[in-house]
Amino acid sequence: MTPVRKTPLLQVDRLYKLFPVAGRLGARLHAVDDVSLHIHAGESLGLVGESGCGKSTLVRLLARLLDPTSGGISFDGVDLAMLPARQFARMPQRSGIQMVFQDPTDSLNPRYTALDTIAEPCRLLAGLDAEAARQRVHEVAEQVGLPTELLQRYPHQLSGGQKARVGIARALAVRPRLLILDEPTAALDVSVQAVVLQLLDRLRREMNLATLFVSHDLNVVRLLTDRVAVMYLGKIVEMGVSSQVFEHPAHPYTRALVSSIPGCGPRVRLQGEISSPIDPPLQVCRFASRCPSVQDRCSRQAPPERVVDAATGQVVACHFPHASFAPIEKSGLQHS
Ligand SMILES: Nc1ncnc2c1ncn2[C@@H]1O[C@H](COP(=O)(O)OP(=O)(O)OP(=O)(O)O)[C@@H](O)[C@H]1O
Ligand SMILES: [Mg+2]
Repeated sequence: MTPVRKTPLLQVDRLYKLFPVAGRLGARLHAVDDVSLHIHAGESLGLVGESGCGKSTLVRLLARLLDPTSGGISFDGVDLAMLPARQFARMPQRSGIQMVFQDPTDSLNPRYTALDTIAEPCRLLAGLDAEAARQRVHEVAEQVGLPTELLQRYPHQLSGGQKARVGIARALAVRPRLLILDEPTAALDVSVQAVVLQLLDRLRREMNLATLFVSHDLNVVRLLTDRVAVMYLGKIVEMGVSSQVFEHPAHPYTRALVSSIPGCGPRVRLQGEISSPIDPPLQVCRFASRCPSVQDRCSRQAPPERVVDAATGQVVACHFPHASFAPIEKSGLQHS
């Protein structure tokens, strides 16, 4: 019997976000440029790429904190892309997509206790009355390991790890189906990072949560995600099952990224200037200026997306993907 292919929970089609450029009339910065991806219920997708490539812009579009320039965002069968952000804020789907931000200090209201912070979305989004919201706060605080006695404290009276737990509890309190994590541990002390990552991974499994996990830590992404998308200057250049992409990267940029994991084969150091995201030429591969395998065609034709491994669904946007898929040395890909 042919297996039934389920509809993804989140489906993103040809999404664009172009920002106007101050002082340059008509110029546009292509922060997110023709991005398509999907996430199934309960699945975790990692999003990696160097600083400024558009990861936060992409996740803010998906959480509908930003309005896209064009493209489709379908969540649970409802097209969200062209709804004004204000209208989305009042829709039931708002509870379905929640976000945990990079810096818990910045994202928590200094005048709210932990209890107020977690209770707020329960009242505003889930419509709970004060007593039901308080009960829900206690439930979710227990789930994230936040002791009840800390609930009356203000953010400045909590440690970084405790603030992170408050942010996670707030996001989970309304029972989302998709949790977006934008570098959720980057602002935390190294000793706390692993604890919070383990907590997130446990909660995701227990609650069958889909997650979109943005991180600069490639090893963590490899260990905690089912699939990974690699972004370069607004575009997704490679996407597939995490173990496959990390062990057999097909795009020269992914190969360079993976080689930066300590102990992971010879380091590929990228030379050349990163090209500008402002009105980039449409017929040129964005990575051509730094690509170690660049050829003439790369500056004449933008590479289309192609499947390089049908069994795992690995796709790459490159005219000359790594030919043999010879596994790169795996010694650096150990649990850390
Ligand atoms: N509101 C804005 N107006 C204009 N340009 C913006 C705006 N927000 C982001 N950008 C630009 O869009 C591009 C992508 O930025 P973004 O913050 O999404 O990158 P990122 O991949 O999250 O980087 P990092 O890893 O440093 O967090 C950058 O060139 C940035 O300067
Ligand atoms: Mg960012």
